[in-house]
Amino acid sequence: MRNRTAQNLLLFIAAVLWLHQHYPLKTANAQGTWNVLLDNAGIASMHTAVTHYGNVIFLDRTNIGPSQINLTNGVCRDNAIDLTLTHDCSAHSVLFTPGPNTVRPLFIFTDTWCSSGQFGPDGTLVQTGGDNDGLMKVRRFTPCPSDQSCDWVEESDNSLQDGRWYASNQLLPDGRQIVVGGRSVFTLEFIPASGSQKVVLPFLNQTDDAQNDNYYPFVHLLPDGNLYIFANRDSIVYNYQTNTVVKTFPTIPGEPRNYPSAGSSVMLPLQADAENVYGANVEVLVCGGAQPNCFLYPAPFPPASQTCGRISVTGTDAPAWNMEEMPFRRAMGDMVFVASGDVLIVNGAENGCQGWGNAINPTLSPVMYVPGASEGSRFITEAPSTIPRVYHSTANLLPDGRVLIAGSNTHQFYTFTGDFPTELRVEAFSPSYLDSSNDGERPSIVSAPTTIVYGQAFTVQVQVTSAAAEFGVSLVSSPFTTHSFSQGLRFLRLRLVGQVLISGGDSSTSSYSVNVTAPPNSNVAPPAYYMLFVDNQGIPSAAASWVQITNS
Ligand SMILES: *[C@@H]1O[C@H](CO)[C@@H](O)[C@H](O)[C@H]1NC(C)=O
Ligand SMILES: *[C@@H]1O[C@H](CO)[C@@H](O)[C@H](O)[C@H]1NC(C)=O
Ligand SMILES: *[C@@H]1O[C@H](CO)[C@@H](O)[C@H](O)[C@H]1NC(C)=O
Repeated sequence: MRNRTAQNLLLFIAAVLWLHQHYPLKTANAQGTWNVLLDNAGIASMHTAVTHYGNVIFLDRTNIGPSQINLTNGVCRDNAIDLTLTHDCSAHSVLFTPGPNTVRPLFIFTDTWCSSGQFGPDGTLVQTGGDNDGLMKVRRFTPCPSDQSCDWVEESDNSLQDGRWYASNQLLPDGRQIVVGGRSVFTLEFIPASGSQKVVLPFLNQTDDAQNDNYYPFVHLLPDGNLYIFANRDSIVYNYQTNTVVKTFPTIPGEPRNYPSAGSSVMLPLQADAENVYGANVEVLVCGGAQPNCFLYPAPFPPASQTCGRISVTGTDAPAWNMEEMPFRRAMGDMVFVASGDVLIVNGAENGCQGWGNAINPTLSPVMYVPGASEGSRFITEAPSTIPRVYHSTANLLPDGRVLIAGSNTHQFYTFTGDFPTELRVEAFSPSYLDSSNDGERPSIVSAPTTIVYGQAFTVQVQVTSAAAEFGVSLVSSPFTTHSFSQGLRFLRLRLVGQVLISGGDSSTSSYSVNVTAPPNSNVAPPAYYMLFVDNQGIPSAAASWVQITNS
């Protein structure tokens, strides 16, 4: 009897410990929960992109020595000009499938180190540049369901017109993508080029400095079709069709913000008005960064930036940076929209800047930035992870509303000792909207169209168990995320036409038709696959529906 009780007590303690480890308790004020999805993804992903099948492309680089996952079927990579391994049987890209949390090795031939990319209108990832033999390459990945064998296809020619190492891409309204800048390259170009020549953009030279704080410029497509481009501490509105600078903004106070200083940026959610017009007041947010010349003189790792700057880029008034202080200093942070349209600021370190061994004091607590809250109460400190994510780490919104966190390798090779080992674990951060306490309000999408046409109304069927129902519908693009910037990220709140109760309406399950209008044109939403989330009183569905926007 005594033995049985003792045994039960031990079982109980073991269960509590297991639960605590797998479902960490929330501390009083810290929201959200963390879960490790996979202990060993085989590679440390420094470039990450979610396909419209919901699986995720992880991409490292080829010249980093063997990874921790081998290619299958005896395939090896024999590349005579690889800088590290000319015969390599390990994979440097994998396809990760959330849910089963499995990976499938992919084959990449040329070096993708610090490359750029963007999904095209048909959902194919167009991926550009890198180092060494990859500097002028274009590669494509056409997604497929996880059990199929899609893989990278690399163009055999050097298709780019300039070498692109640390460039940023943005999908354009006509379905091409623009590739902006790169290491000591003050030009931009288009893919496909279709005969167009590269274009010199003097702004990229003007924002260069001793440690090149103009790498990975922050590029946002504005709803009027122009581009907002931020590099170092300066920014412009640029008309790529006429090659003219339309507007110049004041210099942001504080530190440099781009690589290697490594702040991050988003264009805040675009909201349709009653006439389905977007862009009355478009605002850009830039957060974090590092002290000037941190990269040149790393020791003793100066404190990172603690500020965000927010600026209206469309207003007619003289634009000015509105500065806010974050709860934590952060360099190498990632900024990513969650399904509610708030901005998760995650990963990075409190001291130092990007590069190998250039940072200490990892910022383990993410911060949620609530754009619509009043100034002074826009930052919410979230529950901390236990895993440092510093140089070469990523964050991407999944269609289930979680944020996928991968990578961190502050070394030339895969290194599993020391302060910041190569990080192969994949985590998910669940924002508090996923808490079960919100299940009553949470809508589920019963049906939604798979394609929508610019400016046309469409209907989403939803179910909800709460008596109160006040729906919103949003579209979120799937970016190419690397080096603290999510290239091509945008969040749109659609114009609501109306909601009609189909059945229920009391405290049982109710069905509604929610009618909305698609974005009016491809400046507002370039043609691509988007995640469609429905929210009820701010609580988003826990599963998005992928929708492709087309011209007809
Ligand atoms: C990959 O293959 C090599 C050669 O067969 C082997 O030594 C290594 O252990 C393998 N690595 C993994 C992670 O399986
Ligand atoms: C960049 O600007 C500097 C300083 O104005 C100038 O000397 C240099 O020629 C420019 N470089 C290019 C490639 O335009
Ligand atoms: C919504 O659209 C459906 C058909 O798609 C239509 O029957 C219904 O009247 C519309 N409701 C509103 C409020 O627009």
